[in-house]
Amino acid sequence: MTDVFGSSHKDTDPSPDGQARHEQVVFCADDRSGLRAIIAIYSTALGPGLGGTRFYPYESEQAALSDVLNLSRAMAYKNALAGLDLGGGKAVIIGDPAKDKSEALLRAYGRFVQSLGGRYYTACDVGTYSEDMDVVAKECSFVTGRTVAHGGAGDSSILTAYGVFQGMRAAASHTYGSPSLRGRRVGVEGVGKVGHRLVELLLDDGAEVVICDVSEQAVERVRTRHPQVDVVADAAALKAADIDVYSPCALGGALDDETVAGLRAAIVCGGANNQLAHTGVEKQLAERGILYAPDYVVNSGGVIQVADEIEGFDMDRARAKATQIFDTTLKIFSMAEEEGVPPAVAADRLAERRMSEVGRLRAIWLGR
Ligand SMILES: NC(=O)c1ccc[n+]([C@@H]2O[C@H](COP(=O)([O-])OP(=O)(O)OC[C@H]3O[C@@H](n4cnc5c(N)ncnc54)[C@H](O)[C@@H]3O)[C@@H](O)[C@H]2O)c1
Repeated sequence: MTDVFGSSHKDTDPSPDGQARHEQVVFCADDRSGLRAIIAIYSTALGPGLGGTRFYPYESEQAALSDVLNLSRAMAYKNALAGLDLGGGKAVIIGDPAKDKSEALLRAYGRFVQSLGGRYYTACDVGTYSEDMDVVAKECSFVTGRTVAHGGAGDSSILTAYGVFQGMRAAASHTYGSPSLRGRRVGVEGVGKVGHRLVELLLDDGAEVVICDVSEQAVERVRTRHPQVDVVADAAALKAADIDVYSPCALGGALDDETVAGLRAAIVCGGANNQLAHTGVEKQLAERGILYAPDYVVNSGGVIQVADEIEGFDMDRARAKATQIFDTTLKIFSMAEEEGVPPAVAADRLAERRMSEVGRLRAIWLGR
């Protein structure tokens, strides 16, 4: 157990496997504003670590540390396969955003991010919004995910949905020989920010769409605009439905042993993070002949969108970059076949290869 914010600074490594592989983990505290944050930088092999700030009431410092270590590692892999010259980082602020968020706390946090000198760029995540990033940016130059009024990219779900659509087209191409989804029946679980935009892209492409959401309001929003969309009661009904593509766009952990066993879709491709409930599910999907488009590959449109702010945001340039998710996903499917591994394993290998091969180039001496 750690107790960095209390008294002991000795035991900050709960899992040598996790933290030992991170380049840098920084604990930040400011008593007056109540800030308690952890910034984790997994890798800067490709450039400064980019990842959002999660503001969440963790039960313990240990839980916050585990989360930030996992999230920053995941960002390194996502950024690498998105073709970005960015490494992986992430931050967590421990607290209830509804009660604890204040200007002073966000600005104190901004000063700690600034103190890293550009090794870490922050952005929005669960519990933080573009308006918060504008406040952080008063103290810090290394902030993305800002409001449009401040030159930011705005709602990142636009290119997240677009990227998922590109990944799905690649999966259709691999499975059916054509990227078109015309006439395919696609089940979208969760029609929030990402899901409802994906539904529109699918309908434009001629797909039949069936949706579910725990929020009646979210379902109604889609049905009002697109009465042709079918609705099923819940996620279990969607997974058991006669669909060609299953698209998890709600929470993580949508695919476990039981759901994979009952899945009728030929393709799984969605926007949700961490879709595989545990290691091994990727094998089970492959054994059942279901093509899984790795989540962090196809949902990288959002980070591509906010990363573009670093150069001065240009939506056309960001969209062109997100279009490449089609090629990357196809490449992963081919590599998976060639190497006899599930696509999730091929994706990890490809990301590690880029971090290693491109990261290594810094060893070339540039002279004085
Ligand atoms: N927004 C982005 O740019 C982005 C980028 C990358 C990944 N993601 C991931 O995509 C997923 C969706 O993100 P979002 O921004 O659309 O969030 P959101 O909160 O706007 O939408 C999620 C939707 O899922 C619904 N939902 C929750 N539990 C459900 C359940 N059990 N069954 C059916 N529906 C359920 C919610 O009611 C909501 O409408 C998340 O996993 C998120 O981490 C989002």
